[in-house]
Amino acid sequence: MRGGWPSANRAMRRIVLPVARTAALAAALCGGLAGNATAMEEVPFITTPDHVTAAMLQLAGVGASDYVIDLGSGDGRIVITAARVHGARGLGVEIVPDLVAQSRELARRAGVADRAEFREQDLFATDLSPASVVTMYLLPEVNLQLRPRLLALKPGTRIVSHDWDLGDWRPDRTLVLDVPDKVVGLDKRSRLHLWTVPAAVQGRWCGTGAQHGWQLDLSQQFQRVQGRVEPGGLAIDATVSGLDLASADGLALRLVDGPARALAVRRADGAWSMLAGARFEPAAAAGCPR
Ligand SMILES: C[S@@+](CC[C@H](N)C(=O)[O-])C[C@H]1O[C@@H](n2cnc3c(N)ncnc32)[C@H](O)[C@@H]1O
Repeated sequence: MRGGWPSANRAMRRIVLPVARTAALAAALCGGLAGNATAMEEVPFITTPDHVTAAMLQLAGVGASDYVIDLGSGDGRIVITAARVHGARGLGVEIVPDLVAQSRELARRAGVADRAEFREQDLFATDLSPASVVTMYLLPEVNLQLRPRLLALKPGTRIVSHDWDLGDWRPDRTLVLDVPDKVVGLDKRSRLHLWTVPAAVQGRWCGTGAQHGWQLDLSQQFQRVQGRVEPGGLAIDATVSGLDLASADGLALRLVDGPARALAVRRADGAWSMLAGARFEPAAAAGCPR
């Protein structure tokens, strides 16, 4: 097992129990802020330390225009810090009532109660669509259960997870921080993972205007996009970050036009120069009109 919570599987079983039973046990996940002695013996202290909280928000590039949702917000420190230090707005969802009350009180004392909201709510029942940033300090299995919903967020939404990744959706960046007083894991370190939600571009795209008759076929695995342009058969191997798709060999496209969707070429160097200024629209039928 990777470094981190030694009793992750045991804790996971509890996290999916009905809310009433989960509450007392899950409280202990946050370092006994509202927990009890028995649960504390079984579940290690795992509140995100202040310098790690600061690094999570910095890694996500949180600013005043962001709306941060912390899933399982504990004592509210991530959302409160986002509001207090970065001027962001945010929402913490937490199933333990005492922690929600504590978060509201801490937000009030920090003078950010108007920008840091806390709801007693199951994170799985939370609408994530308003988020520009999602933060999590959960468990590997919970992250994986959340993954389809995270992938469906607005392209460009940033996700930061403390310690646990999202399986084969590889992080765009990982930061390792020393946490000398960390009471879980073996190596006294925290791992922070960042993802930027990629636009979904898989499929067949047809050239318009001067590129009428051109066809772009793309397959996608998270941030990685591979494909081919016809005529000519040039292979595309690119990375998507938010709405932008770029290949190392000089092709850059952006998904534009919102729900109508089109792929606009922004840069086409070298072998790609024949696509300069091109615009592709989703194929209506199996092939592109010739
Ligand atoms: C490890 S703590 C992290 C707290 C805070 N995000 C931080 O980093 O300091 C995880 C939190 O998730 C909460 N939690 C567990 N299951 C939950 C669920 N289904 N819905 C909402 N909160 C949940 C726990 O009560 C706990 O407060």
